[in-house]
Amino acid sequence: MKYGFFNDIDKEYIINNPKTPYPWINYLGNENFFSIISNTAGGYSFYKDASKRRITRYRYNNVPADDGGKYFYINDEGVVWSPGWKPVKNKLDEYACHHGLGYSKIKGKLNGLKAEVLFFVPLDFDGEVQKLTLKNESTENKKIKLHSFVEWAFWNALDDMTNFQRNLSIGEVEVEDSVVYHKTEYRERRNHYAFYSANQPINGFDTDRESFLGAYNGFDHPEQVAKGTSGNTIAHGWSPIASHFFEMELNPGEEYEVIFILGYAENKQEEKFLSQDVINKANAKRMIKEFSNGEQVDQALTELKQYWTNLLSHFQVKSEDDKLNRMVNIWNQYQSMITYFFSRSASYFESGIGRGMGFRDSNQDIIGMCHMVPDLARQRIIDLASTQLKDGSAFHQYQPLTKKGNHELGGNFNDDPLWLILSVSAYLKETGDWSILDVEAPFDNNGNESSIFEHIKLSFYHVVNNLGPHGLPLIGRADWNDCLNLNCFSEEPGESFQTTENKKGKVAESVMIAGMFVIYGEEFARICDFTNNPDEAIKARSHIEKMKAAIDKYAWDGDWFMRAYDFFGNKVGSKENEEGQIFIESQGFCVMAGLGHEDGRAQQAMNSVAERLSTPYGIVLLNPPFTKYQLNLGEITSYPPGYKENAGIFCHNNPWIIISEAMLGNNEKAFDYYKRIAPAYLEDISDLHKTEPYVYAQMIAGKDAAIPGEAKNSWLTGTAAWNLYAITQYILGIRPDYEGLRIDPKIPDELTSLKIVRKFRGAIYNISIENNGGKKMTCYLDGQKNGSLLPYKGMGKIHDVKIIFE
Ligand code: GLC
Ligand code: GLC
Repeated sequence: MKYGFFNDIDKEYIINNPKTPYPWINYLGNENFFSIISNTAGGYSFYKDASKRRITRYRYNNVPADDGGKYFYINDEGVVWSPGWKPVKNKLDEYACHHGLGYSKIKGKLNGLKAEVLFFVPLDFDGEVQKLTLKNESTENKKIKLHSFVEWAFWNALDDMTNFQRNLSIGEVEVEDSVVYHKTEYRERRNHYAFYSANQPINGFDTDRESFLGAYNGFDHPEQVAKGTSGNTIAHGWSPIASHFFEMELNPGEEYEVIFILGYAENKQEEKFLSQDVINKANAKRMIKEFSNGEQVDQALTELKQYWTNLLSHFQVKSEDDKLNRMVNIWNQYQSMITYFFSRSASYFESGIGRGMGFRDSNQDIIGMCHMVPDLARQRIIDLASTQLKDGSAFHQYQPLTKKGNHELGGNFNDDPLWLILSVSAYLKETGDWSILDVEAPFDNNGNESSIFEHIKLSFYHVVNNLGPHGLPLIGRADWNDCLNLNCFSEEPGESFQTTENKKGKVAESVMIAGMFVIYGEEFARICDFTNNPDEAIKARSHIEKMKAAIDKYAWDGDWFMRAYDFFGNKVGSKENEEGQIFIESQGFCVMAGLGHEDGRAQQAMNSVAERLSTPYGIVLLNPPFTKYQLNLGEITSYPPGYKENAGIFCHNNPWIIISEAMLGNNEKAFDYYKRIAPAYLEDISDLHKTEPYVYAQMIAGKDAAIPGEAKNSWLTGTAAWNLYAITQYILGIRPDYEGLRIDPKIPDELTSLKIVRKFRGAIYNISIENNGGKKMTCYLDGQKNGSLLPYKGMGKIHDVKIIFE
């Protein structure tokens, strides 16, 4: 069952049934001010950091679901409704929510009155603009009453939800003209305030929540709305809100437009007050003026659309498969940017409080966006490297506001350092900007700088210096799989598996890190080649050879690659185990590393994946699932079978198999796996899948779960970057490399003719692929026969590339 449809021309997903299986959301904002908005206008806003600068309040996991947001109430001669259906939930004659790139438009219609609200955060603007239009499409005159509504949060999101003994006494607001100013804690140490303005005169307002709602009422039935009045209240403590009240009369055909701004402003310490406790509002007034009429709003929306169109234009494909086109051209790229901005901080599954920027997460996110905004990728790489420690290890996370490593969480996840080589090499391949290697970055954010080249060298040698008894990398607390905690042995309920390290073992080893080392180690060696460091390259390659030998000797289980050795040196992910016999990660990483390609083991590993792990909804992480908690394996055995890391379809790692299949020339299989988890292909089973059909979810319940196919944790996941990387670089096969663009499509028979536009280092490659089913590729560059590498020939050039398979 579907709840909407794609509009590829306008790059929108249009939801036409508000009762989606889960709130289907969108993100507004690209720099400082951000909002999350659901298809019924639920959600909240924050400035830069969802944890420390929460602007409006949102209650996670609330009942009813998704209550609280940016609401409008229409009272049409006694009939009360909301354009987004919620919160009033009065049945509408028409409803639509258009989620576009950086904006959402919600439309409702009842009894001949049409309401449309556009929500977006303009470029370079610290606020959300809302343009509401009401149109009387009936033949009668209508007397309309309109209320707006937002609820303020007290900046620190966790404190806001917990510290009531203080918070209920500190709320403060000011009201001037049509603007409500929120200034809780401004009288003391905060130099920022928020405001909610309207560009029309108001007939009243409310800022005290209980006076507006009425005691014991929900958002669905505010007392003032029902009465068609406003209390003109000023909040003193309790829970401040902002609600504007308008009364109007609309003739048939007449329209009424009002522009609201939910803004954030800062003042210098010495300029905070106009008079005793009265905010200096100059900054807010300047912002309000920028959007005082509809043309200014429309203009800003056009610019925002232009911004996104431009970003997406770096990779565009035209094929016979609309779903493929919309994933690649629009949604997968969009999600990759959003994930880059937010890491894993704020979504409908991430509360915006718990997590900072993950070292491994953010490095991997680079591969999904460095083709769009390489400058941002460069800065992020430097920020990440600056948290690295002198021995090459890494803090697992850093806080976005301070950019400092999180000391409480610490490090010792031994895959972390290697992901820095992935991001640096991806950036170099995309941009050819070798100067990044000379940029000096500190360790642990202080003193002692070292070049980025030295940082990635330290990453490389961190593995070499931390090998276990079989010559395989020590796992530390965990590798990519946060829940494979081989040195943890936690018996304390509620204890964090990520930080507990009861055992200081030097035995537990990871085959996945071994595979990573072969891949990213070779990237390091190639970087040495290109920067004239032949000795470093030779040295590095000798370590890589040793690692390959160790994998061959100790990590091949007969039909697949083992996963690890545990604290006692026992096998994990082997047919000798009772449960968890085969894991996905080591199959992906060892095959991507080129292991067993010649002697058939790689193919055998893929066959085992197909047999044991693949399901109609994607590839599960392991099999058989763990049914009992096992001290020596940690969190992975804590999840019920079929969920999350315990045999869920963890979408992040499916592309590793997709890439492996493509590398082995199994084009059909690669595309088949791609389609199983790509959301656009799942639109028809939205009722089962539950999360948005336009973005990937982190996890889909696996075959051992109660309801296989149910997705969770949409939006913020490494799945976005990895799938974009897999489809564009390995299936469509247009792959940036140090010297140019590598052409290596592995396309299935069902795609016979494709056109790709790839903008690369300021040049444009117009690529056409003719697929006659064969595997022999001929490539022409600007009319001349060419090998598979398109050498980069400079900025501004437009190239014509023709690829024929026969
Ligand atoms: C989550 C984490 C990521 C980890 C993955 C597997 O997505 O953000 O860092 O690799 O889970 O455990
Ligand atoms: C939990 C999650 C896992 C995540 C980790 C780190 O273990 O299950 O997916 O990576 O927390 O926050």
